[in-house]
Amino acid sequence: MSAASAFGIITFSIIGVCIWMRITGSKLNHPDHPPVVTLSDHDLFERPLESYTRALEQNGPVIAVKRKGLMEIIIAEKFAAQVITDDANFSFEQGTAKILNIQFVQRMSGGMFLKKVDNMINELVTRRLDSLISQISPIFQRKASELENSASPEMPLDLHKYAKDGLAEATLLAVFGRGFISNSNLEIIIQTAEAIAELTGMYQNQSMFARSFPSAWRMATFVKIMLVRILFQFGTTMGLAIWSEMSRVLEHDNLNVVEKEDVSLLVLLVRRYRSRDGALSISSRLWIIALLISAVFASVHQTVTVMVWALFELALRPDSQDLIHKEIISMMGKDASNSKGLGIHPQVIRDANVTDSFIREAMRMKGDTLGLVRRTTKDVPLGGVVIPKGYPVFPIVSLSNRSPTYSGESANEFDGLRWVDNKPAAMSGPGFLTFGLGRWACPGRFLAIAEIKMLIFTFLMNIKVEVVGNSYTVIDKLNVTSVPPKGYLKLRRRD
Ligand code: HEM
Repeated sequence: MSAASAFGIITFSIIGVCIWMRITGSKLNHPDHPPVVTLSDHDLFERPLESYTRALEQNGPVIAVKRKGLMEIIIAEKFAAQVITDDANFSFEQGTAKILNIQFVQRMSGGMFLKKVDNMINELVTRRLDSLISQISPIFQRKASELENSASPEMPLDLHKYAKDGLAEATLLAVFGRGFISNSNLEIIIQTAEAIAELTGMYQNQSMFARSFPSAWRMATFVKIMLVRILFQFGTTMGLAIWSEMSRVLEHDNLNVVEKEDVSLLVLLVRRYRSRDGALSISSRLWIIALLISAVFASVHQTVTVMVWALFELALRPDSQDLIHKEIISMMGKDASNSKGLGIHPQVIRDANVTDSFIREAMRMKGDTLGLVRRTTKDVPLGGVVIPKGYPVFPIVSLSNRSPTYSGESANEFDGLRWVDNKPAAMSGPGFLTFGLGRWACPGRFLAIAEIKMLIFTFLMNIKVEVVGNSYTVIDKLNVTSVPPKGYLKLRRRD
């Protein structure tokens, strides 16, 4: 067979599979299925929150809407908490694996991948939060002090890059250890987090090809990211270094050592997966690498996005900046600038109520729509209709976050002090779904909030910020959860 005919067969097969997926993906196999509502691309991508809200108001609390060729079930606020926490009927793992394009990884691990990642973050990250804050806060302090030295209103700051660089370094330290910190590894970490973000479809809304041919896009992206970026680019650089570090740990680490607080996640995983005689099989090594990559992705991407949102919102509100600055000085002392490089005490991070409240409010109000997903495991009756088995179900997160039931009559207004001495930013609830809810609520939320606080504390210690042009641009209105807004900050030193 010639190369041309092989290429033709492959192309036709891909087109055939895409057409088949479009047809089967848009059919609702139940006579009492939810009403199907058609929303235009403009409705979906330019004003998603308004469009979904109106569609629910006009057609009932459970509707079906086709997006990117696939039928999705959209539910109103009154069913959100029920659906997110009812894992027997609405599966987190099936829904998330599908939406993140990682069904293959989930299947290869016998359905255990997401559970193991969850377990790793809970046991080896969240439980060591104080130690992690002590380790990584000096990084944020150093970056802020470099920034102060160069701060001038004439030099606008690309906040996304600043936050990404800081968090990538913090992640390198916490996940792989101090020996891994280098400019080239920072670059690899950032690229890998970006590659996985692409694999999970986070930038899909911005590509015409991806919006028009979602199945073909998914296949092409899977091959590009898994083979080129992960196996080749990551595997031949940091992958090899991680392999050697695992061998070094096996050789030098005392098997009976009491868990030291400031060790990296890599060391902790080697200790967890090595056999009684101190060996680590090839499959365990590959498994550890997969876990580490997922920790990097989970740690960097969403947190950077929220850092950017929170700082833009602060930059638009000089009064809130002054209140937070007061909190910083009251907690770190007037000589706050002298403590640079020594880290921030974990208790300070825990007690920073004003900053915490502002972060929760920025997350509550940023306009999330399809930030959470579940998948029906059987035909499920809900709100007078039946959602057929195998469909993705999305609550509209902002409808819960901005509901007067949970946030009072002023629920639609931004109030940075709303949560002071009330609900902490890391606390999920039916009126705050930004971190999910129930058994599968984000296990990294305590670290994420601590990191955002470290960024704000170090950033605002000696600097005042304004947004250039007094506004920023929301790049992807349908995915404000994972795509940060774009804009520049003007910095001034505080007198
Ligand atoms: C502000 C930053 C973050 C946001 C907004 C966020 C949000 C979320 C959301 C909405 C979910 C799905 C929950 C559900 O479906 O009920 C989730 C899951 C998850 N998050 Fe986060 N997250 C953030 C930071 C982090 C960090 C720093 C880590 C790791 C250190 C992390 C690790 C995970 C993991 C592993 C899952 C999968 C769920 C599980 O395995 O239990 N996240 N996150």
